[in-house]
Parts: sequence; C-alpha cells; structure tokens
Amino acid sequence: MKALVLSGGSGTRLRPLSYSMPKQLIPIANKPVLAHVLKNIQELGVTEIGVIVGDWAPEISDVMGDGSRCGTRVTYIKQDEPLGLAHCVELARDFLGEDDFVMYLGDNMLPDGIQEIAEEFRSARPAAQVVVHKVSDPRAFGVVEFDQDGQVERLVEKPQEPRSDLALIGVYFFTSAIHEAVGAIEPSARGELEITDAIQWLVTQGAEVRASEYGGYWKDTGKADDVLECNRHILAGLSTDIAGDIDAESEIGDQVVIAPGARVVRSRIDGPAVIGPGTVITDSHIGPFTSIGSGCALSATTVEESIVLDGAQISRIEKVHYSLIGRNATVGIGAGTPAPHHRLIVGDHTRVEVAA
Ligand code: G1P
Repeated sequence: MKALVLSGGSGTRLRPLSYSMPKQLIPIANKPVLAHVLKNIQELGVTEIGVIVGDWAPEISDVMGDGSRCGTRVTYIKQDEPLGLAHCVELARDFLGEDDFVMYLGDNMLPDGIQEIAEEFRSARPAAQVVVHKVSDPRAFGVVEFDQDGQVERLVEKPQEPRSDLALIGVYFFTSAIHEAVGAIEPSARGELEITDAIQWLVTQGAEVRASEYGGYWKDTGKADDVLECNRHILAGLSTDIAGDIDAESEIGDQVVIAPGARVVRSRIDGPAVIGPGTVITDSHIGPFTSIGSGCALSATTVEESIVLDGAQISRIEKVHYSLIGRNATVGIGAGTPAPHHRLIVGDHTRVEVAA
C-alpha cells in the first residue's frame, strides 16, 4: 500500500499565520501537524508516500525532507491550483500506479491511529473505505448516509440538511478502482473535483464502499481554536523529559519537556508544557497546556494554554491565555509605550483580544 498526503490547501481560516507558513506546518506539541500525519502513516508499514503540495512546496519539503530519516520515501507532487481532492488523485496517477493507497488530508489529526481500519481494508479490499466520525455540525463536512442494513447508501459534500451526523474526517482507503471514478465526475458547484463525488460514483456503479467509524480523538486543524484545542489534547499525553538548564530558583511540574539548549531562570513551568531548544524563560510562569517553540525569549510573563512559535519574544505580560503567537512575533509592554496605551503593529487578519 502507498500513501497520498494532501498538503496543498491555502489555509485561509488560519490567517494571519497562513500568510507566512503552510497550515500543515503549524506545530502541535512542537511538531508540525504533517509530522504527526506521517507518523500515523508509518505505523501502517507504508513506506512510499506521495505528498501533494501547492505554493508552499519549498517550505514543506525543507521541513519534511525526502523521508529517509524515518525509513520512508517521500515524493512531492505539485498542484498548481486547488482544484479538489479528487484532482489530487488524478495528479498522483503515475505515482500511485495500480497500488492500493491511503489518502490522508495533511491537516487532520487522528492521534489514536488508524491501524485497525487499515487492517480491515487490507483484508476485505473494498473499492473504497472511508473513515467517519460523529460531528455536531455535519454541514461543514462530507457526510455518509447508511441504509437500514448499515451499508453506505450515499455520500454528500457539505449538505444543507444532513441526514446523518457521520462526517468524512480526511482519511480514505482506495484500490485502483478510484481512478475510473475520478475520471468520470464533473467539478462541483465550488469548481472542485470532489473525492466525495468520486466515491458516490463507485456506490452508484455497485462497487463496494465501506465506512468505518473512528472512535478516537480527531481534529481538523484548519482554525486557530481547533489548533489550540488539539495542542491541549496532545500535550495531555506528554512524558517528562528535561534536557535544558534549570536554575535553582525555578520549579518544574510533571509532564514537562525542556529541550536541549533551553534555559529556565527564576520561573515556574506547570505541565503539560514543552519548551523548545534555545528558548530562554526568565521570571515567568509557563503552562499548563502550553508549547513554546525554539529560540524564543519570554520574560516576566505568564503564558497558559497557548502555542508560541519559533523566535517569538514575550515580555511583561501578566497573562497570555489561549493564544497563538506567530514566528518571530514580539508581544509585550514596550519601554517607550505610555501606560495605559496599547501600541499594536499587527498584520492583516490578525486577531487581538484585550481585557482590562
Ligand atoms: C474536505 C472534504 C470533506 C471532509 C473534510 C474533512 O473538506 O471535502 O468531505 O469532510 O475535508 O476535513 P474541505 O476541508 O476541503 O472543505
């Protein structure tokens, strides 16, 4: 079996972060979402991985490399325009050949793994096997409807009046039967070749299509709040690993990771929390449920339930809560800012919430 990972999306719902980085590289517990995705794929024993990339191709290949570090081989396939998930399958036709494959959306987190569903697919080899999960608002997703015998009857992309609450959650298993289906469908109203329509085509042709309900934790990390929520969930499973320097006046709680080259001075770190390499924390209180990237400097600051990306600097802020701070951002009370003013230099589509 091969894998096809889709990492071409533009990530408009993650602005402003997605102006300067692809959403698939947003860190969850200090590791890019895409690294979490590739780990799940490796757990299936799959070593041939095709990654569909758009405008962020260089950034993604810089971080993910050729896969050899993890015993895999990564092939990058360029998609010039976001023309849909089924279009990605079409672009990957040569890479996929006649092999079975798992298609995985590069911004979906399923940390409990997909081994069992993969096993089911490998033994039964239906034309398609989709992974579904109960959601509160199915209108935002592709939805699977079942007949009375529990067989897949219909798949509908973003239905206005959903007849089921089981949404497609970004992982699909296919045999090569999907290629004929992709060739047979027309673009949808949003101008995209929808994989949902291709799978529906298989159902209509009488091919076997199965749906497996994933019982674990799932998050589409397309929005800031979902990224933070997911980070919280992944950090909850953290094991302590202290490699950096901690001075005698600091206190470190349970479930804390301090990377090599990080320094903690006169501070308290409440786990779960992860502090990246080269980051310096001074006179601060970090955590719980917080990830701080590499090369950051935090001083006289409290940060909880937040993600701080590489190179950010935060100083003299009493409480940063449920926040996502971008790379090399500077947040703090400036020496020259007259109290009680706020001086803001923020990018397009930035969100700043200040409470008195
Ligand atoms: C895509 C699929 C949809 C699926 C969703 C999962 O939607 O078209 O069927 O439920 O991913 O995240 P999109 O994110 O392109 O709107």
